[in-house]
Amino acid sequence: MDDLRRFCQLLPKIELHAHLNGCIRTSTFRQLLSSTADQLRLDALDKEFQSGDTHARMANVFEKFALLRSCVTNLDEIRRITRETLEDFITDHIIYVELRTRPRSFDNGAIPMSSYVEAILETMKQYENQICSRLILSIDRTQTVDQAMETLKLAERYRPNVVGLDLSGDPNVKSFEHFLPVFNLAKQMNLSTTIHIGELPDAECLRENDLILDFKPSRLGHFNFRTNEQEQRVIKEQIPLEICPTSNLLTMKLANLTEHHFNLFHTRRHPLAICTDDSGLMDCCLSSEIYDLVQSFRITKEEICELMLQTCNLIFDKNQIDFCQTKLKEFLTNI
Ligand code: IMP
Ligand code: ZN
Repeated sequence: MDDLRRFCQLLPKIELHAHLNGCIRTSTFRQLLSSTADQLRLDALDKEFQSGDTHARMANVFEKFALLRSCVTNLDEIRRITRETLEDFITDHIIYVELRTRPRSFDNGAIPMSSYVEAILETMKQYENQICSRLILSIDRTQTVDQAMETLKLAERYRPNVVGLDLSGDPNVKSFEHFLPVFNLAKQMNLSTTIHIGELPDAECLRENDLILDFKPSRLGHFNFRTNEQEQRVIKEQIPLEICPTSNLLTMKLANLTEHHFNLFHTRRHPLAICTDDSGLMDCCLSSEIYDLVQSFRITKEEICELMLQTCNLIFDKNQIDFCQTKLKEFLTNI
């Protein structure tokens, strides 16, 4: 292994954009798919993905998410996915993670959403000596306002381990406006927010970007497609960005990482977090994401350390900033 790759691996890291079920190991996903038809569908989706444009690729990814959702049917499976995700993150030297997930119930409501959240939080607790993990609850773009309100109530109930509220799901559904009252309420309750923004190259998406920027969330996810004005506004207002290179590369269909907007913001010293999005489904890990950026943009080790230190300021659990920065500084003095 070359020296730089090893450095990226050993560097204590902060992961701020990871969808719990998207982190599922491929082997676990395959095991949970009970029917041969579902296995074949997964193979077909993997093949079809290669030939599509951004819209088709996004549709493909969301069909995969639907398949995944249909094969996760109980709390033991959620505990297993949480456990394996945390173990993979610990192996990758992640010291602080904010996992995000859309709460769900099982058995037609007999197992309520609160049990889903508790199962994840209990599993996180078992690993607290090895990794500091917090939870963000996701509202899905296809949900109703009532359902979103229920998610907000759950977030409030499980504070301080739940640290924020996210908007994610199929970006073809432009529903941020619809959820604005819920996000405004979250803000009034001092709950941090992160919103997926600019995921598709279409006019409706660009219009929705403005509404999201008017709301001014605590952090933004992706921001792949945007107008010049929107870009300037984010820079001027210093709204932190969660950048997920592999995920963006695949869905934006970029030729290579040098076309990614990371450098545009990095060179302006914009607050950034490098993240994985869906490490299982996208087959990536945080060290390789950092390594690939370092290689593509010829970033020095010093710059990466500086970037990681400023990422610590973006975490939602402000009580952990000191812990994260101290760990990083310890690592730096020992290399
Ligand atoms: P979960 O919330 O733990 O079930 O994680 C999987 C879910 O995260 C998917 O069903 C999507 O709704 C959401 N998700 C994962 N990646 C993306 C993305 O790139 N854009 C929008 N939503 C995403
Ligand atoms: Zn995401």
